[in-house]
Amino acid sequence: MKEKIISLFKERFGSEPVLYASSGRINLIGEHTDYNGGFVFPGAIDKCIMAGIKENGSDKVRVYSADLDNYCEFGLNEEDKPQEQWACYVFGVCRETIKRGGIVKGFDAVFAGNVPLGAGLSSSAALESCFAFAMNDMFNDNKIDKFELAKIGQSTEHNYCGVNCGIMDQFASVFGKKDHLMRLDCRSLEYKYYPFDAKGYKLVLLDSRVKHELVDSPYNKRRESCERVAATLGVETLRDASMQMLEASRDKISDEDYKRAVYVIGEKQRVLDVCDALERGDFETVGDRMYKTHEGLSKDYEVSCVELDYLNDIARECGVTGSRIMGGGFGGCTINLVKDELHDEFISTAKRKFNEKYGHEPMVYDVIISDGARRVNN
Ligand code: GLA
Repeated sequence: MKEKIISLFKERFGSEPVLYASSGRINLIGEHTDYNGGFVFPGAIDKCIMAGIKENGSDKVRVYSADLDNYCEFGLNEEDKPQEQWACYVFGVCRETIKRGGIVKGFDAVFAGNVPLGAGLSSSAALESCFAFAMNDMFNDNKIDKFELAKIGQSTEHNYCGVNCGIMDQFASVFGKKDHLMRLDCRSLEYKYYPFDAKGYKLVLLDSRVKHELVDSPYNKRRESCERVAATLGVETLRDASMQMLEASRDKISDEDYKRAVYVIGEKQRVLDVCDALERGDFETVGDRMYKTHEGLSKDYEVSCVELDYLNDIARECGVTGSRIMGGGFGGCTINLVKDELHDEFISTAKRKFNEKYGHEPMVYDVIISDGARRVNN
């Protein structure tokens, strides 16, 4: 990827760029909890977006997306976002950096990536974090702190891409560390690195390669449900709610919002259970909570789909230790905690059965936990 970016940059802009990269992410457990002030447990993976960037002495940003073979330019003082969706991420990062008092000068960029799109691995956070990190390194002497970089990406989603997301994806992409997962408390922003050394197990992603594009922003709707319930219970976020509190106000909450809150409140405890279990090396408990999370995401939070439920069923039938839908939902991947000796059989069974039912095989990615945003040596 490095060579390709450098040569495309030379061809287009006639000089050699500096290279930056940032990663996609997985999340072991703690789904749809970030915007509820809860806990998440992500890690960066060995699939990234890489950009070659160089200051160009103008007040213009000129960017080429190698994968889409698409070019876009915009002025640093322009307020209207570009037409192309992908360019809105770069545009948003520039605007949000400037809004926070950071410096952005005109630059040229070529970028490419190998984070599968629509798989729930946060290719958009990888793109945002790559450019936010680069702006900090190139123009701000790295004075913008890492949480600000993550927030620049998150605000880009909110203000230029219409997704009212939490902080997890950008946090993972910026803070990711090789061989470590991270537990983030999304309310206090305290975090802790956990060495992820699951001897005898593998983490495997099965990408259903389906993405159900739903018209009415279901992600934002889930968030609104949670906020409504929190307001009814008189707490800032569902992080501060218990099942007892929810039951006590049951008659003031719609059935749908109630189910959403049941899931979120349960998930808070499941993440903590997983943290304890990991410290004991108790992967059976980790896996059990993953299955419970899937059930909650499917039945109460209703962000799964038949294809992902089917992959989850196959995992259960094959005796896989833990399995669940990962990320925002409505398609994408399941994340599976699989004993080494079951790995090959599980993959071949899942491919065969899924293909029989849906006419294509899922993609399989073995998870390698890697570093997040970084400068790359040319
Ligand atoms: C998406 C969002 C995240 C998070 C997850 C669900 O990936 O970008 O902020 O809410 O969904 O856990």
